Amino acid sequence: MNTARLFGLAFTCAVFAAGISVGGCGEQAAPVITGSGSAATYEGGFSAEGNTLTLDGNTKSVAGPPMTDIVVVVQDGESIQEAVQNAAPGTTIQVMPGTYHETVYIDKDGIRLVGVIDKGRRATLDGQGKLNDAILYSGNNIVVENFKITAYKGNGIMSQAGNNWEIRNNLIVDTGVYGIFPQLGQNGVVEHNIISGIEDAAIYVGMSDNVHVAYNDVFDSVAGIEIENSRHAIVEANRVYNNTGGILAFITPGLPIKTTYDVIIRNNFVVANNHPNFGAPGSTVSGIPAGTGILVMAADDVVIEGNIIRDNKTTGILITDHGNAANVTIDPESEPNPDRVKILNNTMLNNGYDTIGDVKALMALKMTSGHPDIVRVGKSQDSCIINRHRYVTVGLEDFGECDFTNTYQTANYLLAPVPPREIHGEDRGKIAYLGICAGCHTYTGRMIGPPVQIIQALYMDNPQGIADYIAEPTKKRDDYPEMPPQDYLDEATRLAVAEYMLQVKK
Ligand code: HEC
Repeated sequence: MNTARLFGLAFTCAVFAAGISVGGCGEQAAPVITGSGSAATYEGGFSAEGNTLTLDGNTKSVAGPPMTDIVVVVQDGESIQEAVQNAAPGTTIQVMPGTYHETVYIDKDGIRLVGVIDKGRRATLDGQGKLNDAILYSGNNIVVENFKITAYKGNGIMSQAGNNWEIRNNLIVDTGVYGIFPQLGQNGVVEHNIISGIEDAAIYVGMSDNVHVAYNDVFDSVAGIEIENSRHAIVEANRVYNNTGGILAFITPGLPIKTTYDVIIRNNFVVANNHPNFGAPGSTVSGIPAGTGILVMAADDVVIEGNIIRDNKTTGILITDHGNAANVTIDPESEPNPDRVKILNNTMLNNGYDTIGDVKALMALKMTSGHPDIVRVGKSQDSCIINRHRYVTVGLEDFGECDFTNTYQTANYLLAPVPPREIHGEDRGKIAYLGICAGCHTYTGRMIGPPVQIIQALYMDNPQGIADYIAEPTKKRDDYPEMPPQDYLDEATRLAVAEYMLQVKK
């Protein structure tokens, strides 16, 4: 039966049932109800071939045990960065409660940066609205826990190409563009953090693999939790509320890693994500309609299970391809459709009560009434749902019945510590360029920074000039903001990115 007609019928019955009893309605066949344990379990996803992590209670340890017994203590008034600089790989650095105004760069392996919490007082990194980033690291086997981070302009905790990380129990408040942003890493845990007031994504997993995002409290941001160009990720047991969009799994076109797949979003509270969008104009997240609970854009094999999704005014779950999304340019190398999306049992209540014009138009076209819990636009192949009768859906006609009902057998996608990632030659410049510079510079257009074409004309065959500038930018143009220093990139990477920038052609 055609779904649109199915919902039309149900609606008519409900209207009549409110007043008089009408013969016929009560005779509608009860739907088949599929319980969560009543069929096969999910077997898709990831095969770790013997390298799976052994669980240790609720906390997941992927960085391995401390590499050495060395412990250094940083007292209030001292510099954390100095301690990091003097530390041998494998050092645990404990930071006493107090206020620290600095940026911490970690470019060696095995550093465990641990805040000491004393009767609720934390080691607090305060950027005073002036500093760009709080903690940046490129090492492997890094632990960052127990800090409070506030008033930075760029990132709270960001990593570039480090594997085996644990970011845990941090409090990140009003901190610029990204709260926690691991990029290009494998095997990481982001858990028990409280994050709010972030202009782009509170938790942004970018171009990474084997990631677990759990037990975080994420609110008052544009995007709550983002799984972008990443694979084998589980997002579970998070509380995500009063953001513009709650939990997002998607592909951003144009990045060096072209896919997002194998993502399980389960047992989260996704509540009232209706915050007006305050993302930077032109950014991907600035296109998210306020009131989106869960968004799947172009990502494949996303399982949505056991979430409580309520009070999101546009819709509970929005599934879209690239073609229908705002602020997205198509990348011929990224497949634009969300395929094999699997919607299992979720508790959905009061979503879609004040939805956007596009959804209303789609509903009118499909003759669907009510407030939409789940909306699909664009193409999607081999997607499925169970118990669809529970929700008001639009665009799900070709979703089949799923042949499994739960993901109980997939505890996590984490691994015992993996070897460091190696990035060679030309890739180094390209990855830094696309991961960092392209956020502010496009080839021809004005973005946050001037067009790359202009920079190419200025610097032509002088990559060293760019490398020097970005380490210590000076104010050049009245009509642009200041460029933040990129001195956390080592010298070789700065030169590689400069060379890459000079030969970019589009
Ligand atoms: C957060 C935004 C931002 C990021 C990220 C960024 N830039 Fe910039 N960039 C700017 C802004 C703003 C200016 C203009 C500054 C001015 O004119 O005072 C600029 C200017 C420049 C210039 C022009 C210097 C000159 O002499 O006129 C170069 C070169 C440059 N950026 C290179 C880079 C490279 C390489 C990267 C990546 C490693 C990068 N930028 C990352 C914002 C950014």
